[in-house]
Amino acid sequence: MTELKTARLLLKHLDDRDKYRLVELLSVYEVAQNLTRVPHPYTLSDAEDWLARVKENPFNLSIFLNDKLIGGVSLRDRQDSSYELGYWVGADYWGQGFATEAVGGLLNFAYLQIRPLVVVANVYKENVVSSKVLRKLGFTATGEGEVFSLPRQVWVPTFTYRYKA
Ligand SMILES: CC(C)(COP(=O)(O)OP(=O)(O)OC[C@H]1O[C@@H](n2cnc3c(N)ncnc32)[C@H](O)[C@@H]1OP(=O)(O)O)[C@@H](O)C(=O)NCCC(=O)NCCS
Repeated sequence: MTELKTARLLLKHLDDRDKYRLVELLSVYEVAQNLTRVPHPYTLSDAEDWLARVKENPFNLSIFLNDKLIGGVSLRDRQDSSYELGYWVGADYWGQGFATEAVGGLLNFAYLQIRPLVVVANVYKENVVSSKVLRKLGFTATGEGEVFSLPRQVWVPTFTYRYKA
């Protein structure tokens, strides 16, 4: 079981008992609307499906602050020598550097095992804060596209960011 410490956070796999808290955090539309594959409304059954999937991926971790679940961060193997980054932080915890700290921690951890480490992220163009997080961590914009947003049920224009270490 992966457990990863950063300055303030613990990154680890989600546990079955965290599923109610996951529903509480991801049910907030302001969080879900900027994600691609998180349905809205978010149900206990969605949380259970997610729990079953995260255990198979060593780079799919949840973010804990003082033993409390506050978010998630993951790298998904795209099977083309690159990984897709996803992350979110519960709305009550925004603006305190937690996303930057968690993503930075996961990138450092992944780099210990994967070299070169190539990571891509697709960010909704309107999501200025998320683009800022990526740029702070050394990602550069490489293009644009669009993705189908499950919570919004529409196609949304995106910037593609890339990171190489
Ligand atoms: C995007 C998200 C992960 C950011 O989490 P966070 O913990 O608040 O991010 P951080 O605090 O690490 O960094 C946010 C940065 O944006 C800045 N920021 C905040 N509001 C801003 C605004 N309206 N305009 C510009 N910058 C802003 C912050 O000041 C900070 O930069 P700084 O450290 O240079 O001051 C969080 O808002 C979230 O989960 N949103 C919903 C899901 C999502 O968008 N996920 C990413 C999908 S690509």
